[in-house]
Amino acid sequence: MTAHPPGRHDASVFIRACRGEDHEHVPVWFMRQAGRALPEYRAVREQHAFEEVVHTPELAAEVTLQPVRRYGVDAAILFSDIVTPVQALGIGVEIKPGVGPVVERPLRSEGDLARLRPLEAEEDLGFVLDTVSILVDQLDVPLIGFAGAPFTLASYLVEGGPSKSYTRTKAMMFSQEPLWHDLMRRLSDITLASLRAQVGRGASAVQLFDSWAGALAPADYARYVLPHSRRILEGLADLGVPRIHFGVNTGELLGAMADAGADVVGVDWRVPLEQARRRIPDGVAFQGNLEPAVALAPWELVEERVRDVLDRAGGRVDHVFNLGHGVLPETDPDVLARVVDLVHREGRVDTTAPSVATDGG
Ligand code: CP3
Repeated sequence: MTAHPPGRHDASVFIRACRGEDHEHVPVWFMRQAGRALPEYRAVREQHAFEEVVHTPELAAEVTLQPVRRYGVDAAILFSDIVTPVQALGIGVEIKPGVGPVVERPLRSEGDLARLRPLEAEEDLGFVLDTVSILVDQLDVPLIGFAGAPFTLASYLVEGGPSKSYTRTKAMMFSQEPLWHDLMRRLSDITLASLRAQVGRGASAVQLFDSWAGALAPADYARYVLPHSRRILEGLADLGVPRIHFGVNTGELLGAMADAGADVVGVDWRVPLEQARRRIPDGVAFQGNLEPAVALAPWELVEERVRDVLDRAGGRVDHVFNLGHGVLPETDPDVLARVVDLVHREGRVDTTAPSVATDGG
């Protein structure tokens, strides 16, 4: 394998935008860019179960590369899942197609927490780290590593599967606060160990997915979640890679998610981007936020909405174009390829627009 010095993608448009540094065009990648929207992904899945893909570095690397080849996106995101690290600890988690992660014996009591032992990344997640190594060897664009944030992980582990109301999770949070913080600390340690190891193998940036944190009011987020997410983000600071912090329905939490120690805050499609920008402090970049279902519409509408996102981003150098959440499986890949071209053609960076680079934060 070739030597990969840390920071070798520092000159890429993606890393420069994350840092608010000048670059030639707005970078773009898509959450869930690998996956069922791609016929080449479905072809792999016809031969191999999802878990098998995740656990086989050559397969996981291949499906990570598929969208990079097809779309020409400015970053790759590791193919794995947010529950993979806890699954590696022997918590019985199964990813059911069309459903999501399902936990055989949910974590609900103090005794259950003992099952969440510390993660030894090299031993427990060797297959993920080997995938990272293959990818940094093969990619010409930065690789984004990722992990689930403790609230979102807890929501699966406590509920036992996907939920709309997070009732049991919130009940534990409000009525058993010491147990809750113990759970969050254990999950934070696991997430931090996983992210540090991914960067250690050459990931150029990380995204912390707190997909379901938007279920919380700001005061509850601040009390029960933020200190833990902050410990993760601050625990990555010395590595010097951009830290992206993302959740859905987080309009009221954007400032807090930046405050937790993010370099980039992900914005879903519900918040007009110029308003999101006002909630994110200067010095912190932003990512988003095309409504994923717009990609299902006729091209004229897609084009109009892509331009609208770019307009609202105002040509700032610290904008990373993305969807507001993951690619929907029903999406026509050709539409996403055209979105990438359009963003590259028209996503001009205005170096006079306010940004971390030009106004000193
Ligand atoms: O391209 C990428 O973004 C990288 C791959 C990736 C997957 N999961 C692959 C996957 C990433 C970053 C994730 C993270 C993830 N997993 C999150 C956070 C991101 C988000 O969407 O908010 C969450 C909440 C999960 C949990 C999870 N895993 C769900 C809800 C599902 C979907 C279940 C379904 O079938 O609808 C999964 C499974 C999963 N993870 C698939 C993929 C491509 C589908 C598996 C398949 O059937 O092939």
